[in-house]
Amino acid sequence: MKKFNAMKIRYFLILLYLLSFSSLWAQLNVDMQSEPAKMEDNKRCFDCHSNHIYTFDNPVSGITERKEMNPNFVFKTDAFYNGVHRHFACTDCHSPDYETFPHNAELRFEPMYSCIDCHGGDEAFASYHFETIEEEFAKSVHASKHNENFNCWMCHNPHSYKAMTRSDFKISEIVSAHNQMCASCHDNPLHFQRISDSTKKPLEEIHKFLPNFKLHFSAVRCIECHTAVEDTMWVAHNILPKEMAVKKCVECHSSSTMLISSLYKYQTIETRKNRGTFNSMLLNETYVIGANRNIYLNIFSIILFGLSLLGVAVHVFFRIKKK
Ligand code: HEC
Ligand code: HEC
Ligand code: HEC
Ligand code: HEC
Ligand code: HEC
Ligand code: HEC
Ligand code: HEC
Repeated sequence: MKKFNAMKIRYFLILLYLLSFSSLWAQLNVDMQSEPAKMEDNKRCFDCHSNHIYTFDNPVSGITERKEMNPNFVFKTDAFYNGVHRHFACTDCHSPDYETFPHNAELRFEPMYSCIDCHGGDEAFASYHFETIEEEFAKSVHASKHNENFNCWMCHNPHSYKAMTRSDFKISEIVSAHNQMCASCHDNPLHFQRISDSTKKPLEEIHKFLPNFKLHFSAVRCIECHTAVEDTMWVAHNILPKEMAVKKCVECHSSSTMLISSLYKYQTIETRKNRGTFNSMLLNETYVIGANRNIYLNIFSIILFGLSLLGVAVHVFFRIKKK
């Protein structure tokens, strides 16, 4: 009987030990520490695709030529290796035929994978809800107006995307990075016109109803006003028609729902970060993406950790007593 109890305690301790790592659940699976796996392979591509000037040996003349690279085809090496697909070879997504230069012109018509091709139905990525995101995206103005031309890669840069919502970035950094995803088009006429004929008004003009445009755009994300909040998701993907965008100041500047589900969720995190305290009433009522999960899980882990220490102490106590 005694032996059985000791076994039970041991299993219990192992369980507690495992559970105390639960706060890591919300974080990335990708190994961001070790050296990227395919650096050697990618070097050949980056030799040309990370510079504005590239050189190649002209097979006909035998001369080494220097040429200017199309700026859209130039990528920052650092950004690639800081992204979620940092362990990829370029040729995991692109045809291996790109290894020869000049590239075969037909390659530019090769179909590209979409996120769902790799992530769909994969347990390892279940917490991202790729399938739901795809449904949401299909309802959004971008998909309904532009259909096939507009895909996930338009916002998720294949050569630098990192999932910031799930990391310990400052809110201001998250706001800036997320808004940059939209601004890369809405603030860049050339990019915008790759997709649409319609003339583009500057963002500042569109949003002149907001008193302090710059401050607002550094404090809230575009998606706060342009998507319906999705309780089960970390990032809402259904960009609504402009008529449905949030315009009323009180939606944020009062203690209404909007404040709680979007603005306050930021403030809660910010306050926690800056001052270490927060309004507990608010926290109880809000669903705070990332922050709440972490706070609760962290507290939970600490309690579990405490319990497991206690367990060890009890275990040792009985061991000594038995002797
Ligand atoms: C060719 C297959 C492929 C495509 C296409 C692809 N991914 Fe991935 N993605 C992966 C693999 C594999 C990993 C895991 C990499 C690792 O563990 O190093 C990953 C990792 C991620 C992660 C990090 C997951 C985690 O928990 O660490 C995110 C987020 C992500 N991908 C988002 C996307 C998005 C968004 C798209 C489309 C815009 C996309 N991926 C397209 C294969 C792909
Ligand atoms: C010697 C320089 C050089 C090397 C090495 C090189 N590229 Fe390129 N790549 C170019 C140039 C120049 C272009 C512009 C279009 C063209 O000339 O085909 C280009 C275009 C591309 C395109 C876009 C094609 C299009 O028009 O949409 C892709 C994708 C690409 N390269 C992938 C790769 C990959 C992957 C590698 C490594 C396996 C690689 N490249 C290695 C010079 C290079
Ligand atoms: C996770 C998949 C993935 C990886 C890894 C990847 N690419 Fe790409 N790449 C894409 C997709 C998707 C597109 C098409 C983007 C679009 O349609 O906007 C693309 C487009 C390109 C283009 C054309 C850019 C343009 O604006 O049309 C070049 C050049 C290119 N990739 C080179 C590279 C090089 C070099 C590497 C390795 C350093 C690399 N890619 C790694 C998915 C990937
Ligand atoms: C209009 C722009 C836009 C489009 C199009 C878009 N996304 Fe996103 N997506 C975002 C933004 C902004 C974020 C927040 C950035 C981050 O992950 O930190 C995001 C985040 C994500 C995340 C991470 C969510 C999490 O829980 O951390 C996934 C996964 C994702 N998108 C998948 C997709 C897929 C799949 C598609 C295509 C069906 C798609 N996205 C199309 C803007 C877009
Ligand atoms: C405070 C809420 C709010 C924020 C934040 C916000 N918007 Fe808007 N946006 C609106 C409203 C409201 C409209 C409709 C304006 C109107 O019809 O007069 C609008 C309209 C638009 C339109 C339609 C323009 C047109 O007339 O065709 C675009 C595009 C747009 N916003 C993009 C963005 C982008 C990109 C960001 C982030 C950089 C952003 N918005 C941030 C509230 C917001
Ligand atoms: C690759 C370019 C691109 C990116 C990235 C992009 N958009 Fe758009 N967006 C467009 C185009 C194109 C339209 C449609 C303009 C048209 O044809 O009327 C549009 C339309 C809109 C509209 C107006 C819808 C309406 O009713 O007319 C809003 C709002 C909007 N986008 C918000 C966003 C937000 C928020 C993000 C980032 C999460 C974003 N966009 C990212 C290209 C982009
Ligand atoms: C999506 C939420 C949102 C909406 C909608 C919104 N605001 Fe704001 N507003 C903010 C945030 C966030 C800040 C900056 C953070 C803070 O309040 O400390 C801010 C700041 C301000 C400031 C500057 C306060 C200061 O400290 O200088 C003024 C003034 C303001 N908003 C007025 C308005 C008016 C007027 C409207 C309606 C036309 C409006 N806001 C709509 C979120 C919003």
